[in-house]
Amino acid sequence: MELNKRIFIINGVQRNMHADNGETLASFLRRYGLTSVKVGCGTGICGSCTVLLDGAPIRSCTKKMSSVPDFSKIETVEGLGTASNMHPLQAAFLKLGAVQCGFCTSGFLMSAKGLLDKNNNPTREEVRDWFTKHRNICRCTGYKQIIDAVMAAAKVLRGEAPEESLYFTQSGDSIYGTDFPRPYSLGCVLGITDYGEDMGDKMPEGTLHLALVLAEVGAGRLNGLDYEEAEKSEGVVKVITAQDIKGTNNIQPGVDHPRNKAVVLERNIIVKDAIRKKGDVLAVVAADTREHARKAAALIKADITELPAAETVLEAVAPDALPVQEGSPNHFLTLPVFKGEDTEDLFNHAPYVVEGSFYSPRQPHMPIEPHSMQAYVDADGVLCICVKSQFVHVPTFSLPGALGLEPDKVRIINNAVGGLFGLGMSADAAAIAGAASLAVDGRPVTLTLSYREFQLFSGKRAASYSNGRLAADKDGKLLACEIDLAFDHGAYPETAGMLQSKGMRFMCYGLNIPNIKAIGRGILTNNSYAIPYRSFGSPQMYTICEQLIDMLAKKIGMDPFEFRQLNAIKPGDTTANSRPYHYYSVQELLSKMKPYWEESLQWKKEQTEHGKVRGIGIAMGGFHVSEHADQCEVWLELNPDGTVTNYNCWQEMGQGGDASSVAFTVEALKPLGIKPDQVRLVKDDTGKAPFHGPSAASRSHYVSGNATLLAGKMMLNGMRKEDGTYRTYEEMKAEGKETIFKAVWSSVGEREELSPDTGEGNPMMDHNHLVQIARVEVDPKTGKTEVVSVHSSADVGIIGNKLTIEGQAVGGLAHAIGYALSEEYSDFNKKYENMIGCGILSCNDIPDDIEFTYVETPREGGPLGSGGASECFQSCGHASILNAINDALGIRIYELPATPAKILEALKCKADGQDNKPAKWHLGDDFNEVINEIKENPVGKQDSAEFDATKIM
Ligand code: FES
Ligand code: FES
Repeated sequence: MELNKRIFIINGVQRNMHADNGETLASFLRRYGLTSVKVGCGTGICGSCTVLLDGAPIRSCTKKMSSVPDFSKIETVEGLGTASNMHPLQAAFLKLGAVQCGFCTSGFLMSAKGLLDKNNNPTREEVRDWFTKHRNICRCTGYKQIIDAVMAAAKVLRGEAPEESLYFTQSGDSIYGTDFPRPYSLGCVLGITDYGEDMGDKMPEGTLHLALVLAEVGAGRLNGLDYEEAEKSEGVVKVITAQDIKGTNNIQPGVDHPRNKAVVLERNIIVKDAIRKKGDVLAVVAADTREHARKAAALIKADITELPAAETVLEAVAPDALPVQEGSPNHFLTLPVFKGEDTEDLFNHAPYVVEGSFYSPRQPHMPIEPHSMQAYVDADGVLCICVKSQFVHVPTFSLPGALGLEPDKVRIINNAVGGLFGLGMSADAAAIAGAASLAVDGRPVTLTLSYREFQLFSGKRAASYSNGRLAADKDGKLLACEIDLAFDHGAYPETAGMLQSKGMRFMCYGLNIPNIKAIGRGILTNNSYAIPYRSFGSPQMYTICEQLIDMLAKKIGMDPFEFRQLNAIKPGDTTANSRPYHYYSVQELLSKMKPYWEESLQWKKEQTEHGKVRGIGIAMGGFHVSEHADQCEVWLELNPDGTVTNYNCWQEMGQGGDASSVAFTVEALKPLGIKPDQVRLVKDDTGKAPFHGPSAASRSHYVSGNATLLAGKMMLNGMRKEDGTYRTYEEMKAEGKETIFKAVWSSVGEREELSPDTGEGNPMMDHNHLVQIARVEVDPKTGKTEVVSVHSSADVGIIGNKLTIEGQAVGGLAHAIGYALSEEYSDFNKKYENMIGCGILSCNDIPDDIEFTYVETPREGGPLGSGGASECFQSCGHASILNAINDALGIRIYELPATPAKILEALKCKADGQDNKPAKWHLGDDFNEVINEIKENPVGKQDSAEFDATKIM
């Protein structure tokens, strides 16, 4: 350490400080309590740590203190404004929905201030260029709302709009259906929201810091660990291994499906002997500081016998492949879907048939914040674990047995969530922190993973391999579909049944297809385990179906838009699972998009610069809302001061569970005249709030809204006097009446699970639909694709909060563009250990011209007519882009992502008169043989009458 006394001007104040020459500016500022400075990647990639140094934005995580001169002016969000006196940028970010998880917000605010201090009248393009140049990455918003906010703030700074224009004003007695801003965003724009690492830094003295030793091989046997040196290393309190775990040390849930063959499944919190994927935890070091813990972890030597790893589905189903989970076959699950008549004959005689084989990659979620967590045993002997989770009750089911605790001795408390998008469904992070705290007698522990460790440790979207064909009759009407799709579940099939079931519902979704023969195969590999990701399971199916549909239209010689209009569902048509849709607005969505398609046909004909070629593509998507046996509980409590507390575990990750919890409470208690600021929220803590289920499957708004309305009804009934007026808190107490009202909303028994023998059924409470049209320009010289615009029309029911819906819409589309063009992950290539290697998109990679219009079909059974929205928006966007590339160049990219290299390769094939179509994937047993086996061995109906918390993701 080279400590020096230094003088800096921090947020306008000259301060005497002490800095180590070798530390970074980010860690220096955080040490002095300026924790608005967030460290995401820690390597200069994401911009979350941006501060102003002498007026210029810099990424403070890579700036060494030795290169920061004395008397430098350093500005952070702490100096920007206060809750009662916000800087216009802060107010605009809050009002216009530029904050979702908020982890990137401080960096964006400081970067934007750096721009507006120099130029308070920038164009949208200049703002985009600025954020791109300064590497400010936002994974949640898709950037559009951030640009809107900067433009609005600039207008106020120029004096062209009043400051009040940046504040939300309520008119009327309702905030439902308005742009009511998310209450939790206020802390984010002020830089005072504590995320995991902030919480860790603020833990009391005596808190131990953890460091992980991770497996660096994809498959192997752990013969032993040598940690003698590590134990003697400075500050080390304990090296924690599998032997220190008192319970089963197994957090792998079973696969609850009658066609599951994986009867032996194991996922150790800390590896006992089998290593099944890179990033499995071999040991954990607990020490007095983070540096000491990490230094000691590096001294631990693992004796491993490396085994051949199955890196792909194709390798895993090869006859000589080793089982990933000993005792279970790698092809462990098969879900069929049969509709109408057998397709063989139809294909033999159909006038139009197309076929193709496709691949979609493991998509990394890439939140800007890596995992960070704490744990301790509280005064009541309860293991309290603070993580970021989107299903806080999951670890309370799986950890007691795994850790050797009584069932009620685990409590999960959510830290502020710096992005999840699905990966917070696993108990894995909580398990590590919990196990470590128990191993050091319940002392508080804290752990923040580096981004590399996070990438190795966490789950990803399942890769898929699919073979399929599609037939139409002479009039262009869809006749039959056959799909054979294999999901790569990785080493630990955490949510296997749900993933397969979701995927198999979206064949030709929104189109009328009378005959289907399909199977979904579940395959174990030595890859990162498959975990939910927005639109769970559906983008894999849209990858094949939406491209085959496009290919079929072109084969017939029809316009792809008109082909979809011709085949779009009408009342009476049924889903792939042979049941009626709940409503039929797809034709209306298409009609809304028709003018844009026609304009796009014209746009395509215009000249482009530098020889780029234009193309347009359409895709149709959507998702299901809630499940056949779903449940959610919300409590409302009347407080002595007349305010109301809403207790729920609608896990807030930036999607708007906070704003909607307030809005539903206000609506539910309208007769009492409750105002938004009279609603308190107690959320996302299993010790304080009831079971909600996951913030997933677009279910939260639907289930939590219904439960809140129910609780409100109970409260009003409890408070109502005979004359129709309502009792005060004092009157309630005086009459001995309960002031807390606990409502459980349930859908158990209302729907029908998919048959494991035919795939018939209707497990969805609701569904939504989307039509998306993309315009692209592709440079045939470089192979680079630019998405110029995406316009969409969606039906997600009555819109409760346009701001949060648009947040999910644009954010989901941004992920879909990444899925189409650049994003992927491999455990076996170091390139993917950071965000850039994984293909994360910056501001200029996402078009500014994004538009969503809505058809608001009121949902029967939905709260106030609303449905669920989020997953809809990441379902099919990638396919519209792939179809647009085909339209531009006449090539098809069968294996995502459509990188420049793949486009150039396809162009070369085309020029050589060859086809770049991959050969049919060999996915194991023959398609027709698997189907015959299923037909010959029915397993009968599943019991759908029981509520099962693990089946509602
Ligand atoms: Fe500094 Fe990512 S650029 S944390
Ligand atoms: Fe930007 Fe979450 S709001 S990363």
